[in-house]
Amino acid sequence: MPDKKGNHSEIPDGVSRRSFLKGMGTGAAILPALGKTVEAADLENRFGPEPAPITLTINEKIYHLQVEPRETLIEVLRNRLNITGTKVVCDNGSCGACTVYLDGAPVYGCMMLAVKAQNKQITTIEGISQNGKLHPVQEAFIEADALQCGFCTPGFVMSMAKVFEENPKASLIEVKQGLAGHICRCGAYAQIFKAAENVSKRNGG
Ligand code: FES
Ligand code: FES
Repeated sequence: MPDKKGNHSEIPDGVSRRSFLKGMGTGAAILPALGKTVEAADLENRFGPEPAPITLTINEKIYHLQVEPRETLIEVLRNRLNITGTKVVCDNGSCGACTVYLDGAPVYGCMMLAVKAQNKQITTIEGISQNGKLHPVQEAFIEADALQCGFCTPGFVMSMAKVFEENPKASLIEVKQGLAGHICRCGAYAQIFKAAENVSKRNGG
């Protein structure tokens, strides 16, 4: 319907922009007015716009919390749960710093909504040490002095640990393939790869 200036809008007459936006969040009131059909079950499964209760399993511990549907997994880890070992650098999926495991597979925490991580096992850098002992990859990073500012380090460690979990004697080429997508802005690559070679050698590679 054109407005006084001749602009067209899909918002029906008698519905203010505020109530339209609110209705888009809560769903039921406005969508029938737009001639769209939405199953009641779909609406029940939608989150927001207000915070909604979710349950996350992180490092084998269960957390019940309220999150907004727009919040990413890394935001929830760091800002709501104070699990800050995992870092944020680019926040747009291009550096690998925020890598965590989801059901054992490395994912970028900045590219995943927290609500989508429900019913999965989330593992962060805090969760890969065992009984207070650092993971062998963490120890190798320390020995090789494989970091400068350290912002990229948790992500590198998580992906490298996964490479050696799948192949304890992984070659340097295989490690590099496993680290594809990780960027170290300090340029500590030589030491990072040295750490990888040391892990492989200790495993008999
Ligand atoms: S912070 Fe997530 S990929 Fe860079
Ligand atoms: S150590 Fe600084 S970005 Fe890698």
